[in-house]
Amino acid sequence: MAVQINPSILSADFARLADEAEAVRGADWLHVDVMDNHFVPNLTLGVPVVESLRKATDTPLDCHLMIEDPDRWAPQYVEAGAGSVTFHVEAAAAPVRLAREIRAKGARASMALRPATPIEPYEDLLPELDMVLIMTVEPGFGGQAFLDIMLPKIRRTRQLIDRHGLQMWLQVDGGVSAATIERCAEAGADVFVAGSAVYGAADPAEAVRELRKQATA
Ligand code: DX5
Ligand code: ZN
Repeated sequence: MAVQINPSILSADFARLADEAEAVRGADWLHVDVMDNHFVPNLTLGVPVVESLRKATDTPLDCHLMIEDPDRWAPQYVEAGAGSVTFHVEAAAAPVRLAREIRAKGARASMALRPATPIEPYEDLLPELDMVLIMTVEPGFGGQAFLDIMLPKIRRTRQLIDRHGLQMWLQVDGGVSAATIERCAEAGADVFVAGSAVYGAADPAEAVRELRKQATA
């Protein structure tokens, strides 16, 4: 299982996004948190910023949509240049149709689960997806403490992926740091989002290398 480290620009300086993307050169993807102040109590950025970011960096964009009505908006993020688009299954009216549309437009399709959302009801959807995102904090803000109680869900999701023989990725997002990444990897995650642990470090690129080392250990 190849480990991937995706710095979250939620913890970056939004006035200097091009520089902040450059500061994590060597990362696998840039994690872009889109919040609409409805699905979560915070507001970040939208399609025009993703379009600009796409031109400003070669690092592929992993867009995490914490928004209502992803059925309407997610395809626009593919058109804006996202290489991967994650919608929250709690907000999607027709997750299978949406995943197929994201893939048909040429991006990886991914489904996110809030901490209180179980994976089991969505087992049959897994073949339609390229990634599952297990939130390890309540979505909305960076810098929150990792929820240990999510480790069993990560483990169960890995078992379902393996049982179905799928090649899809398993992403964790929220409170991932030097102190928690090994436990996530041990539970079966292979894509790690880190915001404050990367952009809060004196050398963000070095923080990415360190996290990669720990996740691989
Ligand atoms: C939270 C976002 C995360 C956030 C993670 O709702 O989805 O991507 O940036 O930040 P840290 O790594 O600081 O928990
Ligand atoms: Zn995120």
